[in-house]
Amino acid sequence: VSAGSTDVISFARGIPSPDLIDLEALARATERALRIDGAGASTYGHAAGYLPLRRWIAERHGVELERVMVTNGSMQACGLVLEELCGRGDLVAVERPSYDRALLALRGIGARLRGVAMEPDGLALDELEEDLVAGFVPSLLYTIPNFQNPTGRTLSSTKRRRLLELAADHGFPILEDDPYGELHFDGRRAPTMLSLQRGQSTVIHVSSFSKTVCPGLRVGYVIAAPELIGRLTERAANTYIAPGTFAQAVVHQFCLGGGLESSTARIRGALEIRAEVLARRLALEVPEGRFVVPRGGYFLWLELPQEIEVERLAVAAAERRLAVLCGADFMVDGLSNGLRLSYAGTPPERIAEGVRRLAHALSISRDGVVA
Ligand SMILES: Cc1ncc(COP(=O)(O)O)c(C=O)c1O
Repeated sequence: VSAGSTDVISFARGIPSPDLIDLEALARATERALRIDGAGASTYGHAAGYLPLRRWIAERHGVELERVMVTNGSMQACGLVLEELCGRGDLVAVERPSYDRALLALRGIGARLRGVAMEPDGLALDELEEDLVAGFVPSLLYTIPNFQNPTGRTLSSTKRRRLLELAADHGFPILEDDPYGELHFDGRRAPTMLSLQRGQSTVIHVSSFSKTVCPGLRVGYVIAAPELIGRLTERAANTYIAPGTFAQAVVHQFCLGGGLESSTARIRGALEIRAEVLARRLALEVPEGRFVVPRGGYFLWLELPQEIEVERLAVAAAERRLAVLCGADFMVDGLSNGLRLSYAGTPPERIAEGVRRLAHALSISRDGVVA
């Protein structure tokens, strides 16, 4: 279903709906960016990013400036890191399921992917440890610890510590992709693994302003050891010269003016309502589906009984102008009976209608009868 066609409801894309973007605050930040540092905002910047924003990020995470690089969105940061650290034939551990675009990037590099199951409290570390002990030590482990894409699950703090120990003992880096950590519904942000590693450089932390301010800015960042940042910066310079300075200057002014806190709070509040409505309607109208009610982030992972063909279901849903993504896209082995439902892009009153369409599509794909 094309998202542009009329009356389409999309549970497919991980984007905030337009009403969640604080355009007024962005307009003020843009004006300030141009008035205060018009020259800096309008030129080619440094390949590592706009210095005032790098400083702001470094301070926020309590790290030195040399450890921060700003990119055109966090997917670009992930791509640069993966290209720098993984080559053809290298073993890379990923969550099963994991973010589809990261899997595509890894496949493009020719990495060998090893999926580690996701439990309700995140990565199955016993399974990972068995692999490590058997000699399967990855070049890198890619994880989304908070409100994971696609399952919505969060890695427990006990597991965060154990994962760091495993990485230190077996000598592999962790790519911590964390665009959703601030979007918690329970009032507390889980500590990043970056902040939990003591004096080590095991963790490469990636995050973004896409999910808390707006995706159109295309501003993300990576925090890593200065030596790796140097290599990534060189790769960036040779690929795109420098990330978009203008957008970074706007983000900087937006953050200085307190916009990040208010925008995050607004998006968080809306997401909590949307997640609750989606979960309530699913429980009523798709009783055969199993899911954990999300406590943050953008996604609900709906598992359906084996006898339901989810690809067929997705087609039937598209015919009813509802876009959903099949779980198979998020699997290393392409096998899943799940659907990823994003509630971020749909206002609550439309979510109920979306679930109605899904239930209708399900009744058709189940017994081939048009209800
Ligand atoms: C886990 C994860 N990483 C990275 C991204 C990309 O975000 P950005 O817009 O910052 O490139 C997304 C967006 O959906 C995501 O879910």
